[in-house]
Parts: sequence; structure tokens; C-alpha cells
Amino acid sequence: LAPKSLEGERVVVTAGPTFEAIDPVRGITNLSSGKMGFAIARAAREAGADVTLIAGPVHLPTPRGVQRINVDSALNMRSAAVQSAQEASIFIATAAVADWRPAVAAEHKIKKDGSGQVPQMAFVENPDILAEVAHSPRAVAGELYCVGFAAESENLQANAQAKRVRKGVPLLVANLGPATFGKDDNALLLVDDEGVTELPRASKRSLAQQLVAEIARRVKGTDVK
Ligand code: C5P
Repeated sequence: LAPKSLEGERVVVTAGPTFEAIDPVRGITNLSSGKMGFAIARAAREAGADVTLIAGPVHLPTPRGVQRINVDSALNMRSAAVQSAQEASIFIATAAVADWRPAVAAEHKIKKDGSGQVPQMAFVENPDILAEVAHSPRAVAGELYCVGFAAESENLQANAQAKRVRKGVPLLVANLGPATFGKDDNALLLVDDEGVTELPRASKRSLAQQLVAEIARRVKGTDVK
């Protein structure tokens, strides 16, 4: 049997949107489907890794053999990610984390009182989960390889390189638009310190397998499939 490219690695993947509560029955979210992250978790598992998938609210089945942790808010995703990353050797952030959350979530449902007054809402910024994990001691020491995603609409390459540096990750993967939310295919641009690799338009399943092979090559320095 051929050796698998991620045998012995522990991979953590974040996927899907987050949900930021306004009150017990309302919240703010986005249209991320989680498909890319779930496909990556599946491909990493098939490549022999031990995989933890931290999923925001999505309607997708858990890939076989993958340990799934369901979360809702960015703060909960961050706790799960920081904790899981302590044991991991590879961290892949595909989640579309909400940039802001309501400063306070009301304890009870906010009622329409008939006066025509609308609620005023203050927001606070959410933590950048990827940047935090990528700047953790184990990541800085090279024991945890971090991969980020970016959805850029212009100056893709330059913006992706800048984001790679800002986040502190060795590899940044840019979605080669148009908007891929919910779609089954995509095209990717991999940006690292050596330059740019394009993965042409294909199914998310195929792209996930190619991306896992690219990550394995960078982590293990080999070409085993
Ligand atoms: O800054 P931007 O949202 O464009 O960065 C996208 C990358 O950062 C993705 O990998 C995403 O999962 C990650 N991210 C995160 N926490 C945030 C915002 C983005 O982990 N609060």
C-alpha cells in the first residue's frame, strides 16, 4: 500500500459561517456554505491525517472518520480552534468568520412595541482566529503549519501576498472568484514565499485533494500521494 501523504499529521479545519446572536431568536450570519472546508477535511482524512473539523452552522454531513465540533459564534469557534490547534500540526482556516458581533446579545427577545422605534445596535470586532493561531508559540516555532483563505475581488495576487504576511501564515489560498459561496466548483491561487501556484477551475472535491497534496509537500517535503 502506498504511504499516505498526511499520515501521522493532526489537521484542524475551520469551516462555514459564524452566527452572532442579537437576542435568543435572532442573529447575524453570512452565506458561506462550508463546502470547501468540508471537502478539505475529507481529503485530509483520506490522505491519512487525524482530522478535527470545527464547523459553524451549515447543512452538510460530517465526512467519514472526521471528528466534528459544531460551534455558532466567532468566540466559540475561536475557543475550539485555539484548543484543538494545541494538538495539531496543520491548521487550515476556511471559515467565513463574521468580522463584527453585536456588542451585547439581549437576554430576551427584543419586542416590537408598536411605537415605530427601531433598535439601535452597537458592534464590536471579532478576534481574528487565524492570525491568533498563526502567531501562537507552536506555529512560530514551526510545529504548526497554518493555511489561510482569502476571497479577493481585485489585485488578487498583491492582496493575497499582503494578507499572507499580515496573518502570519506560510500559505494563503485565494479564491479566484466570482463569488464561490454555495457553488460546487472553484479555482484557487496558492501564494507562498516561493510565489504563486494556480489550481484551475475544478470541483471543490478535486481542488481539496490537490490542495492537500500541496500542503503535504510543503509540510513533509515529499511528493507522496
Ligand atoms: O481577513 P479576512 O477575513 O479576509 O481573512 C480570511 C482568512 O482569515 C480566512 O482563512 C478566514 O478563515 C480567517 N479568519 C479568521 N478569523 C476572522 C477572520 C478571518 O480565522 N475573524
